[in-house]
Formats: sequence, C-alpha cells, structure tokens
Amino acid sequence: MTLFETSGVEKSFGGLRALDGVDVSIDEGELVGLIGPNGAGKTTYFNCVTGLLEPDGGTIRFDGEDVTDKPSAELARAGMVRTFQLSRTLKSMTVRENVQIAAMDHPGESAIHAFRQTDALYENEERITERAEDLLDRFGLGHLKDTTAGTISGGDRRILEICRGLMLDPKLFLLDEPFAGVNEATVEEISKYIKDLNDEGMTFVIIEHGLRELVQLVDRLIVLHEGAVLADGDPRDVVSDEEVINVYMGNAMDLDEGDEGAESAESEA
Ligand SMILES: Nc1ncnc2c1ncn2[C@@H]1O[C@H](COP(=O)(O)OP(=O)(O)O)[C@@H](O)[C@H]1O
Ligand SMILES: [Mg+2]
Repeated sequence: MTLFETSGVEKSFGGLRALDGVDVSIDEGELVGLIGPNGAGKTTYFNCVTGLLEPDGGTIRFDGEDVTDKPSAELARAGMVRTFQLSRTLKSMTVRENVQIAAMDHPGESAIHAFRQTDALYENEERITERAEDLLDRFGLGHLKDTTAGTISGGDRRILEICRGLMLDPKLFLLDEPFAGVNEATVEEISKYIKDLNDEGMTFVIIEHGLRELVQLVDRLIVLHEGAVLADGDPRDVVSDEEVINVYMGNAMDLDEGDEGAESAESEA
C-alpha cells in the first residue's frame, strides 16, 4: 500500500529552481534513502512535504489523503514526523528533558493534547516521562538521561534527535542527515536502530548527501539532482548507474569521504 506520494512538487527561491517537479512514491514499510549532492534540493523537499515551506506546485498525498496544504502540526499528528539536518537539541536541558519536551514543543504538539484532555495533567506528565525514559533506554542513552544535552557527543545528539521524533509515534519518519558528523561505530549503531524500527513496521525516508552510509542500510535509493529525481531503485543498481556516477564525480568527496575528524566537523546551528 502506498503511504506517501508526491507528484510534480516544485519550489523556487527567487530565480533559483530548487525543486523542479519531484515525483516519489513510498509504500508502507519501506526503508528508502534519498541522496544527492549538496544543493540538490533534499532538505527543501522535506520542508515542502512536511508543511514548513509551501510548494509552488504539485501534490502531496499521505496515508490516503491529499495533504498538500496541511500545516506541519496536522501532518505530525497524522504520523509524518521528521528530524532536522541541524540538531535542534536544547543544550542547557538534560537529555531526558529534551525528549520530554519533544512531545510538547514539536509541531505535533496536538498529538499530546489528545490525551492531555482525558488524563489528569499529573498522570499525563508521568506518562511522557516514562515514554521518554523507555526510548532513551532502548536507544542506548539511558545512562545519559540526567546529563546536560550540550555536553554529549555529536553521535549521541543524533540519537537523541531520533528519540525526540519517536515521541510522536511516526508512521513515516523522515530523517535529514542522521549520520552527519557521526563516527563509524555510531553510524553502525544508528543504522541498527533504524533497521529494527523498520522491521517493526515503521516507514523511513533518510536523506544523506553521500552514497556510502546508505547503500548497506536501505532497500531502495532515490537520487535527487538539480531538484528532480535522477534515479530510483535497488541501491546497487543506483550506485553503478552511469548518470549517478557522473553527478557524484563533481562531488568526489561524497563517494569516499572518510570519518577522520567527523565529530569535530559537525556543524551546529
Ligand atoms: N530558504 C532558502 N532561500 C534561498 N535559497 C534556498 C533556501 N533553502 C535552500 N535554498 C537553495 O536551494 C537549493 C537546494 O537546497 P537544499 O534543499 O538545502 O539542498 P540539499 O539539502 O540537497 O543540500 C540550494 O541551491 C540552496 O542554496
Ligand atoms: Mg540538506
């Protein structure tokens, strides 16, 4: 069953055509990578489909409904949840508080309101705390729950971002560069968490600018280039596609970029 579908999604910034008609269809349960060199339009695509930017044209369907003009809060409530390329962690709060407030400060805020109305506030807060702690334990951050988020490693911060998104019970989880600035061991750890969640039925679209991290992880790769889909299919076919190789030739770094200094190279908003 098709869970998510866009057709002809367009977005320009002044004279720059960032998205030039993006056609993508994702089935329930898929684990899909969305790759493309820097500036290809990947983040803009996520912004358009999650209601943070208004597309200039095209349609977006999610879970059987046309959601083209829906605000992000409504989309999150319906189960379309995302993480951001630049970490949104609140550095002065603890790891656990960061996960707890994700249930409240996220566009999906109203998802929590639904049970806030039926439960006593105290009990509700307890449930949020419990859920946050369960997620942190499951994803290896339990021992850091009372640590100030600003002091944890870049890799742990990426996992924290994922836990924050999971508070909203995604049906479709859109991850924007979950491996950015993460060392090799943590890439493997995060990949395993994603794989486990996918095995449990969660659908993923994962953005990366490089090819390397995703080939092993995903079932399908979509390549975005200059705002349109250049290739879409089995990861091994896609990475050996001549057009795809040509696009990445101008970005040789993306193909064989090493991990040295990755943690310190992480950019932070
Ligand atoms: N808010 C914006 N205003 C103007 N130009 C933008 C804005 N956001 C993105 N762009 C431009 O759109 C193009 C696609 O950007 P982006 O979607 O961030 O690419 P990617 O995530 O694939 O690296 C780039 O040329 C970028 O400079
Ligand atoms: Mg981006």
